[in-house]
Amino acid sequence: MNTLSGKHILLGVSGGIAAYKSADLVRRLREQGAEVRVVMTAAAREFITPLTLQALSGQPVHSDLLDPRAEAAMGHIELARWADALLVAPATADFMARLVQGRADDLLAAVCLACEVPLAVAPAMNRAMWQQSATRDNLANLRARRVHVLGPDTGSQACGETGPGRMLEPGDLVRLLCGMFQEGALAGRRVLVTAGPTREPIDPVRYISNRSSGKMGYAVARAAAEAGARVTLVSGPVALALPERVNGIQVETAEQMYAAVMGHIADTDIFIAAAAVADYRPRDTAGQKIKKSAADMTLALEPNPDILAAVTALPEPPFTLGFAAETGALETNARHKLRAKSLDMIAANLVGPGQGFEVDDNALQVFWDGGSQQFGLTRKTHLARQLVALLAQRYQARYNKDTVVKLHAQDSA
Ligand code: CTP
Repeated sequence: MNTLSGKHILLGVSGGIAAYKSADLVRRLREQGAEVRVVMTAAAREFITPLTLQALSGQPVHSDLLDPRAEAAMGHIELARWADALLVAPATADFMARLVQGRADDLLAAVCLACEVPLAVAPAMNRAMWQQSATRDNLANLRARRVHVLGPDTGSQACGETGPGRMLEPGDLVRLLCGMFQEGALAGRRVLVTAGPTREPIDPVRYISNRSSGKMGYAVARAAAEAGARVTLVSGPVALALPERVNGIQVETAEQMYAAVMGHIADTDIFIAAAAVADYRPRDTAGQKIKKSAADMTLALEPNPDILAAVTALPEPPFTLGFAAETGALETNARHKLRAKSLDMIAANLVGPGQGFEVDDNALQVFWDGGSQQFGLTRKTHLARQLVALLAQRYQARYNKDTVVKLHAQDSA
């Protein structure tokens, strides 16, 4: 059975060029077994006709708050009660601002205000509007109210510019909406995972690397997706298949991994650094294969960026889980890294011959400020599920604490 079978989805369409994608969205939601009703703003009707959405949804389209006939048929309160979830796609910058203000001056805003079921928005706007502090503030406010923010995507925009602000594709939105109905511990959360080794080139045929197989990172990415998260996996070279429902980005060097992570971090709720990033790279990469000679050879190395430390140094870092592979003094070393890199959690394991790297089983000790948990030797796939369940609990604990602090700050302002 499809996840959306029999679900009542109220689709709000606000006035942006991405409204043309709403037609496909209605079709796909129905393919998943959902019953769909559409509420359009006046501006949305300038971009796509109600007739199109009516034909695809098989239901009359709602637009008027003050039309007595429409209200008599199904008013804003009934629409809000009818829905199992409300998705506004596209959600323009203006609509999000109105949502933040709690306005009820048109039908869609009134339905959102009356809604007591999960509410999701799929932002769609020009990249400069998306990056404006006003929009960022609105977004933070909506997230604090548990509104699911789906996307946006990065890419070419209708205005001719390129950057973040494109509405997610209808298929992605449907997938994320399904995630909201799965009782996953990370439903609707955006998780970024690094995995595998990095390769630091010496010359066109040689590189420095390490024994990481990527198995733990891939298992964590899979477990996070199973828990309902939207997962992006930035991976060094490994011989593993990308887990289902995970968006993969392949890189080779630490610098490429750093760039990929930084490119996605603004839209990340939880960052999991499972990669074994090479701490150093050759200072010079030879353009030609280095020929052997009888003399000794010295390779000059320079440090790579610490990706995890760079993430936690951001003004608004996501929740972070780091890994520590140690050959001894596990707790002391792991707790030192937890503090030194300002992490929320660290998962530590012992490595050595037949332990940690390249094998299918592992054991972990997880530490956070004021607590720890031990997971005994088991398959990495099972271990990853246990770790993700713990991570979801710790994330929720911090999330609740932050919300209380924010609300107190607002009260005393
Ligand atoms: N890490 C990272 N970027 C690096 C190095 C490490 O993101 N350049 C992350 C790893 O993915 C891991 C954590 O940092 O989550 C710990 O890595 P580790 O190499 O064990 O820590 P270091 O501080 O480099 O300590 P050590 O001296 O043990 O190498």
